[in-house]
Amino acid sequence: MNLQIENISKVFFHADKVHTVLKNVSFRVQEGQFVSLLGPSGCGKTTLLTIIAGFQTSTGGQVLLNGQEVTKPGPDRGFVFQNYALFPWMTVRENILYPMKRQKMPRLEREARLDNLLTMAQLEGKEHLMPGQLSGGMKQRTAVIRALAGRPEVLLMDEPLGAVDFQMRQILQEELEALWLKDKTTVIMVTHDIDEAIFLSDRVIVMSAQEGEILEDLAVMLPRPRVRKSGLYQGYKEHLTELLQIAQGAKTVNLA
Ligand SMILES: Nc1ncnc2c1ncn2[C@@H]1O[C@H](COP(=O)(O)OP(=O)(O)OP(=O)(O)O)[C@@H](O)[C@H]1O
Ligand SMILES: [Mg+2]
Repeated sequence: MNLQIENISKVFFHADKVHTVLKNVSFRVQEGQFVSLLGPSGCGKTTLLTIIAGFQTSTGGQVLLNGQEVTKPGPDRGFVFQNYALFPWMTVRENILYPMKRQKMPRLEREARLDNLLTMAQLEGKEHLMPGQLSGGMKQRTAVIRALAGRPEVLLMDEPLGAVDFQMRQILQEELEALWLKDKTTVIMVTHDIDEAIFLSDRVIVMSAQEGEILEDLAVMLPRPRVRKSGLYQGYKEHLTELLQIAQGAKTVNLA
């Protein structure tokens, strides 16, 4: 797996105005990396992620997956939407089988993979429930393993825990990490939560509200599982808090 985001620009036109959301955004992602895109609301995170997914096109630049230009969605990229977006009319089992059927995976292989995924996400015995009958955590795990079901080369997640309250969120971050450690699929996750980015990522890419400029590409060099209370962890947190203020343009020049 080799993912290259090269000089991506995105311009929207509305009310006779040109709105440049992304300008020449570039970075590369290596196999097995967990990368977070962190930035203030409206800085273009979802726009960038959906361009990588192939849900929309860029105005300039290109996304290359294993050297091939991305022009449309494909099974090589799994996507987890904000608020999970499970099919509410399908059971857990049917939700997870869906991408595998679409890919025409043979039936026996499908069933074996379904069992593996259910075990991995500790959802055994829940496969016949509807999404509405699951807890928040179970929904989230179902959404992640559904995205993994088609064996994507890269998993794209747009604020997968955005709808969850603070305490639940910490528990789910631990579950998400455990799930990722078993599988080591390459991940790009959008978040605006600093703590979540440090807890989960090998690398945090900080985007500015101005044209999605990359302010810093920070390697998080902490052993896993990460200890939120540790001094080094807190150091990363302070650094990113400061950077996010700059990203928001909230940091003003001291005139005194
Ligand atoms: N289809 C569109 N037409 C016009 N403008 C758009 C369109 N999609 C997004 N935008 C604009 O692009 C900017 C970036 O939007 P985007 O959804 O990528 O932000 P984001 O970083 O994901 O923010 P949030 O953290 O709030 O989800 C916003 O100003 C938004 O209004
Ligand atoms: Mg968004």
